[in-house]
Amino acid sequence: MIAPSILSADFANLAAEAAAVSNSDWLHVDVMDAHFVPNLTLGLPVVESLLRRTDIPIDCHLMIEDPGRWAPPYAEAGAYNVTFHAEATDDPLSVARDIRAAGAKAGLSIKPNTPLEPYLEILKSFDTLLVMSVEPGFGGQSFIPEVLDKVRRMRTLVDSGELQILIEIDGGINAATIEEAAEAGVDCFVAGSAVYGAESPGAAVESLRQQALSAAHRH
Ligand code: DX5
Ligand code: ZN
Repeated sequence: MIAPSILSADFANLAAEAAAVSNSDWLHVDVMDAHFVPNLTLGLPVVESLLRRTDIPIDCHLMIEDPGRWAPPYAEAGAYNVTFHAEATDDPLSVARDIRAAGAKAGLSIKPNTPLEPYLEILKSFDTLLVMSVEPGFGGQSFIPEVLDKVRRMRTLVDSGELQILIEIDGGINAATIEEAAEAGVDCFVAGSAVYGAESPGAAVESLRQQALSAAHRH
């Protein structure tokens, strides 16, 4: 699956930018609050407007403090998947429960230096794990290959049936990095600059998808 990140799109033309990637699986929306990360993007009103203008399932990536308070409204609004950060809450299970009760899939995200092990037990209550392959906050950064150890560990747990969860990766995914991520076992690839920096965003989505599929098959 390919999830273009609109962080690299034209924020004044979001409906057209979504239409340009109608062949994508999810549309990734980065919500930043200038507290959890040192950047500010958009919030619920923009997501609500976008939901009215696209049929692509919306994948909200909340890089915000206090997700227990702010995450469920994105699910109520109709986002398909709502991901928040493990580092932002002491009670990720209740946040996941509230997101699911509001009708969305629940995702947990971990920053590059956050270990996976402490969260393995609670992942049974999540639908997606978003492994950050850059420090959250900005598009266009370089891929951190060390995080693929966490992806490989997850792939083993999913393939053995111990966990049922979608493995998503975010940050620095492009034509040069997507194959090693696919070989490690990623299911869903977020790509911002590699899609919206391309001459044809739709063609970039298809090209990344083909690269990921052939790398996964080779593996
Ligand atoms: C970074 C965001 C990413 C960002 C990725 O904090 O979570 O979704 O848009 O951008 P690229 O693909 O350019 O690294
Ligand atoms: Zn993101």
